[in-house]
Amino acid sequence: MTNQLTDKFNRKINYLRLSVTDRCDFRCLYCMSEKMTFLPRKELLTLEELQRVGEIFISLGVNKIRITGGEPLVRKDIDQLFNALGQNAHLKELTLTTNASQLKSKAPMLLESGVKRINISLDSLDRDNFKKITRTGNLDQILENIRFASGLGFEKIKLNSVLMKGTNDHEIFPLIDFALENQFDISFIEEMPLGYVKHDRDKTWIDNDQSLKKIQSKYNLTRSTLNTGGPAKYWHIDNTQTHIGFISPHSNNFCESCNRVRVSCKGELFLCLGQDEKIELAPLLRKYPSNDEPIKRAIINAMSIKPESHEFNLNEKQPAVIRFMSHTGG
Ligand code: 5AD
Ligand code: SF4
Repeated sequence: MTNQLTDKFNRKINYLRLSVTDRCDFRCLYCMSEKMTFLPRKELLTLEELQRVGEIFISLGVNKIRITGGEPLVRKDIDQLFNALGQNAHLKELTLTTNASQLKSKAPMLLESGVKRINISLDSLDRDNFKKITRTGNLDQILENIRFASGLGFEKIKLNSVLMKGTNDHEIFPLIDFALENQFDISFIEEMPLGYVKHDRDKTWIDNDQSLKKIQSKYNLTRSTLNTGGPAKYWHIDNTQTHIGFISPHSNNFCESCNRVRVSCKGELFLCLGQDEKIELAPLLRKYPSNDEPIKRAIINAMSIKPESHEFNLNEKQPAVIRFMSHTGG
């Protein structure tokens, strides 16, 4: 497919992050408030609409789709979407970000659908701390699911960890050692001010440069050329199968090479995680059930509002963006 998605700054968009639900069985401290109000189900795109959105983006030149949420695997009948998109010959990569709570039952289906790489959010290896961070998660069950999936033969599993000062920053080495033992990659994500949550982000935020220095005091790292098309900067731990990535929206602006857009679970096209402006695709999908052209045109036109970069400021009382990550898609 020739790529028809280029923005004002000459960046080619070939990567779609598609959120399939805002719901999650966890309530991670940095992601959700304890009592979340979720969208009424009727406001969500149907699975058929999500598939159509994916296929339209593919026809415009997108060749990588990540299914996100919320927790994608809690969406009823989600197998249907993986199967359909996995069969599309123009899609090079279909991936998933998950908290692993449903991975035991879903991993075989994911592999069969052609998912080769998965990202698993894991912020702690301490039972009590895991519970404190996720509020509802059960570490033993998650580890069992991860081990099960790991034995099935995915090309790569990557862990995503959000480090928070005084909460789990002391677990940086256990997390890396867990990745090493299992030949996983691991990325550290700086916390982003998305949505109102009940903890002080400016007090818990950790600069990735600091984490890198700490890791270098124990491991020999070599800058890696690994490029997964994302904002992470990768290092390789010498003589191992493990890469360490750093996603640093604050200390390291990666917008220059941004190749992605997001579609929320209710069909809003967001051109940037740090921007409120959006294009509503749902009304178009419903107005033109069998004609993709108006939707394609809307997506192509939307490229003109993709901003050059985001600005996050942790000291503001207001979150940079009012919507939660679980709404937009992580
Ligand atoms: N800041 C940083 N990372 C976040 N995630 C969810 N909310 C935030 C936030 N406010 C992470 C999850 C998941 C990834 C997709 O995004 O932990 O690993
Ligand atoms: Fe759920 Fe992921 Fe948000 Fe945690 S970070 S509440 S697992 S969507």
